[in-house]
Amino acid sequence: MVNVVPVNLGARAYEVRIGAGLLVQIGAQIAPLLRRKRVVIVTDEVVARLHLATALQGLAEAGIAAETLTLPPGEATKGWPQFTRTVEWLLEQKVERRDIVVALGGGVVGDLVGFACAVLRRGVRFVQVPTSLLAQVDSSVGGKTGINSVQGKNLIGAFHQPSLVLADIGVLDTLPPRDLLAGYGEVVKYGLLGDAAFFDYLETQGPALARHDRDVILRAVTRSVEMKAGIVERDETEEGERALLNLGHTFCHALEQATGYSDRLLHGEGVAIGCALAFELSQRLGLCSQEAPSRVRAHLRAMGMKTDLADIPGDLPGAEALVTLMGQDKKVIDGKLRFILARGIGDAFVADDVPPAMVTQLLQDALHR
Ligand code: GLY
Repeated sequence: MVNVVPVNLGARAYEVRIGAGLLVQIGAQIAPLLRRKRVVIVTDEVVARLHLATALQGLAEAGIAAETLTLPPGEATKGWPQFTRTVEWLLEQKVERRDIVVALGGGVVGDLVGFACAVLRRGVRFVQVPTSLLAQVDSSVGGKTGINSVQGKNLIGAFHQPSLVLADIGVLDTLPPRDLLAGYGEVVKYGLLGDAAFFDYLETQGPALARHDRDVILRAVTRSVEMKAGIVERDETEEGERALLNLGHTFCHALEQATGYSDRLLHGEGVAIGCALAFELSQRLGLCSQEAPSRVRAHLRAMGMKTDLADIPGDLPGAEALVTLMGQDKKVIDGKLRFILARGIGDAFVADDVPPAMVTQLLQDALHR
């Protein structure tokens, strides 16, 4: 079964197709987009080992020729050196504006390739084929592309929508459990920010998702993408509502910086901890009842996910240093920290007026739990 979620953006509209077995159908899926029977693929070494042969077979079955660039895996790839290498390679391959570039991989590949396509010849079309849960529910949809600076994550980038997203949930079977759960942090985020009934569903069905139950994964990915598509349709360039997708992210980005974007904390793990902190902050500000943060933490714990700062291995800087790290976040406006807070589960909003002392106190308490 394939679920299709349209992203209605006028001239930049596209579909997100979600189902098991889409990768081997890639040729048939993208053939209608092609002006000539040739694509280029950019992937990474880990994904290439697991899935490139299937993608090439799918393309060959539709008579589509392909050339591949394989990048090193990991967050360090998302910087200028591999970006330059990718752009130059695409030029060597004589990719034209009417061609299609395929981004086969997780968030790193999708973000980097999307940005390369945004600037190549002032805009080349691309297809996202996300292979991690995180990329399927978040980064492949909505057109945010970019790379990291030494000053911070995702600080260099562009909005550039893909022409199609093919989310083959079958490929998630090869994900290490830690990566699947990290991606699940972003799934939980959707329930928390705008759909209490979805969070109820995840509370009961999350364990089945972790066991790779295909029906649950299909429903969870589809609902997440529907929510993201709706938000992106209403606010493509994050003038307002789209900021809700950053629930948990102000905390997360500071924690990722503090841990050097290393294996100590995966992005989705930081999002999960950040969501727990955002709900606790909301409760301390009198915005929501104690029940809401308790449910958030209980669910993350029940899933065996990182929930507290103490779950991050190694030392963390103090609370004030973490608040300083938040100052580099893209969400800073006029020097003010911006948080996504909640009136309850499924009811998030943007707050620009959080007293920094409250945040410092919250982190101090969280560091000493
Ligand atoms: N990942 C947040 C957004 O796409 O807006």
